[in-house]
Amino acid sequence: MNRTLLLILGIFLTIASSVTGLVIIPNWQFQELKPVVKNEGQQFPAPYEGEAAQGRRVYIDQGCIYCHTQQVRMKGYGADIRRGWGTRRSVPRDYIYDRPHQLGTMRTGPDLANIGGRQPSSEWHALHLYNPQITSPGSVMPRFDYLFTEVTEPSQLTNLAVKVPVGSGRVTHIIPTERGQSLISYLTRLNQSYPFPEANQ
Ligand code: HEC
Repeated sequence: MNRTLLLILGIFLTIASSVTGLVIIPNWQFQELKPVVKNEGQQFPAPYEGEAAQGRRVYIDQGCIYCHTQQVRMKGYGADIRRGWGTRRSVPRDYIYDRPHQLGTMRTGPDLANIGGRQPSSEWHALHLYNPQITSPGSVMPRFDYLFTEVTEPSQLTNLAVKVPVGSGRVTHIIPTERGQSLISYLTRLNQSYPFPEANQ
């Protein structure tokens, strides 16, 4: 009987200490984190709004996290900065508006924490998502062509149309769907290149 009580107490303590260490203490430590506000009123990081917020949900439901991280490791912990994935390491404050955060663990593709700075062109993202082979021959990234409408007749063109290089069959242009467009807005906004005092190494 005594042993059963001891066992239950042991299980309880194990669960309680994990919840304290993994949930309660980190929440308490990070709740004070505030964005940095510059003199001009610009805020870093800024909350995602409108198209970018919608695009963030597309990023989540398309499973981009299974191949991409959004976290730059500090010097000495990997080649992230040498590879040009960021100019500084990522810190907790970068993620105060990221719920759920998209840190990721798999790097089949490059880290995307700063992709908006590294690749600011919406046209590039459109072509790459539509067919990664166009911009990155040999890429193993899957096509997300269903996020685009294919244009085969000049009458279908709109001002969002992006020209597809020759050799893509009858398709001359692609037009991002609402989800495609919002995903591109989100990607071009991913940028941690503002300075934070705690990220100086
Ligand atoms: C099966 C793995 C896989 C999935 C899923 C995947 N990617 Fe990729 N991604 C890659 C690989 C590999 C590369 C590098 C080659 C290339 O540029 O295509 C890459 C490259 C990229 C790049 C260019 C990075 C750079 O530094 O030039 C972007 C942007 C990107 N992916 C966005 C996305 C988005 C958005 C999604 C979800 C809609 C996604 N990826 C899903 C594997 C993947």
